[in-house]
Amino acid sequence: MALLGFGNILLLLLLFGNSLGAPGSFSVDYKKDCFRKDGEEFRFISGSIHYSRIPRVYWKDRLLKMYMAGLNAIQTYIPWNYHEESPGQYSFSGERDMEYFLQLAQDIGLMVILRPGPYICGEWDMGGLPAWLLNKKDIVLRSSDPDYIAAVDKWMGKLLPMIKPYLYQNGGPIITVQVENEYGSYFACDYNYMRHLTKLFRSHLGEEVVLFTTDGAGLQFLKCGSIQGVYATVDFGPGNVTAAFNAQRHAEPHGPLVNSEYYTGWLDHWGSPHFVVSSAAVAKSLNEMLAMGANVNMYMFIGGTNFGYWNGANSPYGPQPTSYDYDAPLSEAGDLTKKYFAIRDVIKMYRKMPEGPIPPTTPKYGYGTVGMKRLQTISDALEMLSSFSGPVKSIYPQTFIELNQAFGYSICVSGRGGCGDY
Ligand SMILES: *[C@@H]1O[C@H](CO)[C@@H](O)[C@H](O)[C@H]1NC(C)=O
Repeated sequence: MALLGFGNILLLLLLFGNSLGAPGSFSVDYKKDCFRKDGEEFRFISGSIHYSRIPRVYWKDRLLKMYMAGLNAIQTYIPWNYHEESPGQYSFSGERDMEYFLQLAQDIGLMVILRPGPYICGEWDMGGLPAWLLNKKDIVLRSSDPDYIAAVDKWMGKLLPMIKPYLYQNGGPIITVQVENEYGSYFACDYNYMRHLTKLFRSHLGEEVVLFTTDGAGLQFLKCGSIQGVYATVDFGPGNVTAAFNAQRHAEPHGPLVNSEYYTGWLDHWGSPHFVVSSAAVAKSLNEMLAMGANVNMYMFIGGTNFGYWNGANSPYGPQPTSYDYDAPLSEAGDLTKKYFAIRDVIKMYRKMPEGPIPPTTPKYGYGTVGMKRLQTISDALEMLSSFSGPVKSIYPQTFIELNQAFGYSICVSGRGGCGDY
């Protein structure tokens, strides 16, 4: 009952605290190798959480658990295709209410590291790029291709003005904004594209906001991924942190050390066992980084779920499953794990911990056996299953793009001869 009471108090705080704060300053200090927030030395200990992978009703619970672990920031992606499923049709309400998510983070006391793409990777469908971009057959994604740039400019022209009031400079929780995502791992290595994005972000968000890039901790990645005027950071999992930060120092001889994706676990692929990384290994390298004064974002702190068909796939074709548990410190269901407490014990050595109880793991309920009944054959149910425009008749099988279908399945039902028999 004590825990329930605490929840009620928090709710009241959130109801009254629902507004942006006073304008502040946030910058990179190249002399003292740190960030500065309102003039004070600042170091973030952050965790990744993707609002698109967690039902809205649980956002507050998960954010509070992150706060109670000792984090002072969160990091999140904005998936373009989730907010603009059809060209020009924007969706920012209900489960997709990104602004509400940012507001919740701020009310709980967490800064935000924002990663608006346009490409996000994140094991998300097409890395967050909308499927309709492929209507132009020879489009070169993530490059200076004029059709791609035109779509990016339009989307960012919608998104970035929404973000602007949430910048720390404007009284919001956002301290830094990432440009693109691990661009140095992409074949195109198009500096004009990265320069264009930088200018675009600056024109909408202003000159003051700290922009950054993230790349693998190797010179070969930083070569195409980093760009002048945008702070270069790296990502890496447990291991030799000195060697990894040496790579960042090559791109940024001065300024704060930043691991933008410290891997607490790893993604899964269909057909392979669930990936696990030991709590001890995660805690050890975290401790080493914090002892060096580095800024760390744990990827993921809670993975969540790929609902619908929003899971991504790697090439050669290896799709991610529905679960994005990631072996993260908070489980897919948001439960506290051994890893959560191991991480919390490390953070405790470097930061004053917030007071109060940690929200408990939610009760689980056994739903018993679910019976499956045979209803109809695919051919019989064809009209009902073809929810887009009814069955499509064609001599040759069509691609999803030709069918104007971004997700799900297309089933080939042949009249005679059989599918593919042409
Ligand atoms: C870690 O990397 C550094 C720099 O490359 C190297 O000097 C050191 O020996 C490495 N430590 C271990 C334990 O491998």
